[in-house]
Amino acid sequence: MKIIHISAECYPIAKVGGLADVVGALPKYQNLLGETAQVIMPFYDINFTQKNEFESIYEHTILLDKDTYSFRVLKPVNLNIGFDLFLIDIPELIFKNYIYSYDDSTRFLAFQVAALDWILTLKTKPDIIHCHDHHTGLTPFMLQESYKYKTLNKIPVVSTIHNAQYQGWFSHEKVNLIPEFNFDKVGLLDWSGTINPLASAIKCAWAVTTVSPSYMEELKIAANGLESLLSDESQKCKGILNGIDTNVWNTENDTYIKKQYSINNIIKGKQANKKWLCNTFNLDINKPLFAFIGRLVDEKGSDLFPETFNIALQKNDISILLLGSGDKDTEYKLEALKEKHIGNYNAYIGYDEKLSHNIYAGADFLLMPSRVEPCGLNQMYSLRYGTIPIVRSIGGLKDTIIDIKDSGFGFTHKNTSVEDICNAITRATTFYKNEKAFQKTRKRIMNIDHSWDNSAKKYSELYKSLIN
Ligand code: ADP
Ligand code: GLC
Repeated sequence: MKIIHISAECYPIAKVGGLADVVGALPKYQNLLGETAQVIMPFYDINFTQKNEFESIYEHTILLDKDTYSFRVLKPVNLNIGFDLFLIDIPELIFKNYIYSYDDSTRFLAFQVAALDWILTLKTKPDIIHCHDHHTGLTPFMLQESYKYKTLNKIPVVSTIHNAQYQGWFSHEKVNLIPEFNFDKVGLLDWSGTINPLASAIKCAWAVTTVSPSYMEELKIAANGLESLLSDESQKCKGILNGIDTNVWNTENDTYIKKQYSINNIIKGKQANKKWLCNTFNLDINKPLFAFIGRLVDEKGSDLFPETFNIALQKNDISILLLGSGDKDTEYKLEALKEKHIGNYNAYIGYDEKLSHNIYAGADFLLMPSRVEPCGLNQMYSLRYGTIPIVRSIGGLKDTIIDIKDSGFGFTHKNTSVEDICNAITRATTFYKNEKAFQKTRKRIMNIDHSWDNSAKKYSELYKSLIN
C-alpha cells in the first residue's frame, strides 16, 4: 500500500512540537510493516534546510486565483530517515527562519495545491492520502470537489487532528484561491461564516482520527466550536494513540545525552546525567529534580508555573528545571523567579532539542499539568528515560499514565490548578524518599512499550477498511 502523508512539520527537518515527531516516525514504522509511506512537506528556509543538500525532481507553476507561483519538488540528497521525503519549495511564499507566521492561509493553501498538482503527475498514485492538522485541512475538499483533481477523487483521504484549538480560519473573500469547484459545495469549506480548514477536513475526509481515544471523546464536549460537527461525524471518527520513535528516543544509543544507560544500569546512568544537569544549571543533585519541557502556552498550564513553582519550592526540599518558550509574560516571570530560588530553580527559555534529551535523562520527575493534551509525547519519552511523569489526567495523558495509588507508575491530578500541581509535587517528593519503590518504578516505566509498532498497525487497519 502506498501512503502519502502531507504535513507542515516533520522531524528532523522542521519541528515546532509533537506533530513533527509523529510525521517523522509513523511513516518509518509503516515502511517497516511493509507499506510504502512517504511524506510531503513545505520547504522552509531554516537551519536544517540550509545545512543539507536537496535536489530538484520536478518544477512547475500553480495558479491561485489570478496569481501564478513557480514551485519545485525537492528531495534530500543524503538523508536516511526511513522514508522518502519530498519538500515543496515555493520561493515567493517562503519565510526565512520561520515555520509559522501570523498569516499562513495563502502559504499552506499554495503548498497543498502544489502537492496535489505534483501527485497528479505521479505514475504510481497513492492508495491513501493522510493529512495532518489544519495546515493540510483543505486537501480532502480539493480532492473531492476541485475539478482539476477529479482523477484523484477515489483515493481515500484520512485527516488526523493533532490539536483542534488551531483551525486555520480565513475569510470567504479568499475562496477563489481554491482551485475551481461547484460553488454549491462552498458549505463544505465553511464553519460559522468563515472558511475553516479543520472543519472542512472533518466534513470531507473519509476518516478522521485524533491522536488519542480520550481526546476524541473530549472533543465532542469542547473542540473550540467544532463540538457538534464532531458529534455529527462521529461514525467516521476514531482515536488512535500516538507512539514514539524508540530508535530516536533510546537511552542506550542517544548521542545527545551525557551518559548512555539501560535498564540494567539505570541508577548509575541516571545519576550521571542528573549530575551534569545539576552542575550545568546550578542545582543540588541530592534533591529530587522536577522538570518541564514544552511550549509555554495556556494549554500546557504554563501561566500557572511562576506561582506554582514559587509555592512548591517553599513547601518542599526540591529542585525545578524548565525548558520552554512561548508566552512572553510567562517567560519574563519564569526568568525573574530565578533570583528568588538560586540553587533550587533554573530555566532555559528557548528551544533546544539536545537539552531536552538531557533533561528527560537526568530529571527525576516530569511535570505535564496540561489543560488540553490531545496526546502528549513528552510523558512517553519521560517513561522511556526512567523519569516519572506527573500529569493532569486529560486526553492522551489520561490514556497513558496510571497513578501509583492505582498500582500504576506516575502521579496524576484532576485539575490544572496551582493547588493540584503542588499537591502532586508533594506526593512525588514523599515517594522519592522511598528509595526502593522509587528505583523499582523507574525500572518498570523504562520497560513500557510505547513504540509506534502497535499504532502503526491500527492505521493500516483503518486504511484497509477505507480501500475496501
Ligand atoms: P506539543 O506538540 O503540544 O507541543 P507534544 O508533547 O506532543 O506537545 O510534543 C512536544 C515535542 O516538542 C516533544 O518532542 C518535546 O520534547 C519537544 N519540545 C517542546 N518544547 C521544547 C523546547 N523548548 N526545546 C526542545 N524540545 C521541545
Ligand atoms: C499536538 C498536541 C500534542 C500531540 C502532538 C502530536 O501538538 O498538542 O498533544 O502529542 O500534536 O500528535
